[in-house]
Amino acid sequence: MRITFVTGNRHKVEEATAILHDYDIEIVQNDCGYPELQDDDVAAIALYGAEHAANRLNHAVIVEDTGLYIDALNGFPGPYAAYVYDTIGNAGILTLMRGVDLRSATFRSVIGYCEPGMKPIAFEGAVTGRIADQEQGEGGFGYDPITEIDGVTFASMGAEKNKVSHRGKSFTKFAEWFLGSRRDSRIAGK
Ligand code: IMP
Repeated sequence: MRITFVTGNRHKVEEATAILHDYDIEIVQNDCGYPELQDDDVAAIALYGAEHAANRLNHAVIVEDTGLYIDALNGFPGPYAAYVYDTIGNAGILTLMRGVDLRSATFRSVIGYCEPGMKPIAFEGAVTGRIADQEQGEGGFGYDPITEIDGVTFASMGAEKNKVSHRGKSFTKFAEWFLGSRRDSRIAGK
């Protein structure tokens, strides 16, 4: 079984490929892009993008949107994580968090799945960790060097990241639903 993942982010493709491998689902990347809805809710952004891409490509697709919510910053940067990463980066976040004791933060990953002419469906995964005191680790991407789960940054985890991450959870939920829905449609088609 295969599914098209509309994204320009090769790191997301690598992680999704590894997670879905266990379910025998192959990821095919398409980086044709889609309009990014301006919304406070990552689920709304993913659903809108999936619907747009499915209707444009005329086949089923998934897209994924990630938000980072830092408690001491009242949920900043939330759905604006990409813009904030591109502007102030990890160094900027560490500066904002200097001297702050409350360091909890939550990553949310929402996958939007859509078939042409259908309503999109969302699958969400979240993990709460801690903003590290300094960057650590060589792997991963984005905020991975400053996101700690049980004392280890995502950037230091290697393949273990997918077992605990927001994306590991959202793609696992998607895979279980996708396999079930294919099975049901085969039975219904008998
Ligand atoms: P988007 O989902 O591509 O909009 O990602 C939002 C921002 O969060 C981008 O700057 C990504 O690099 C970053 N990001 C997305 N997923 C992860 C992750 O798993 N770890 C660390 N940073 C991430």
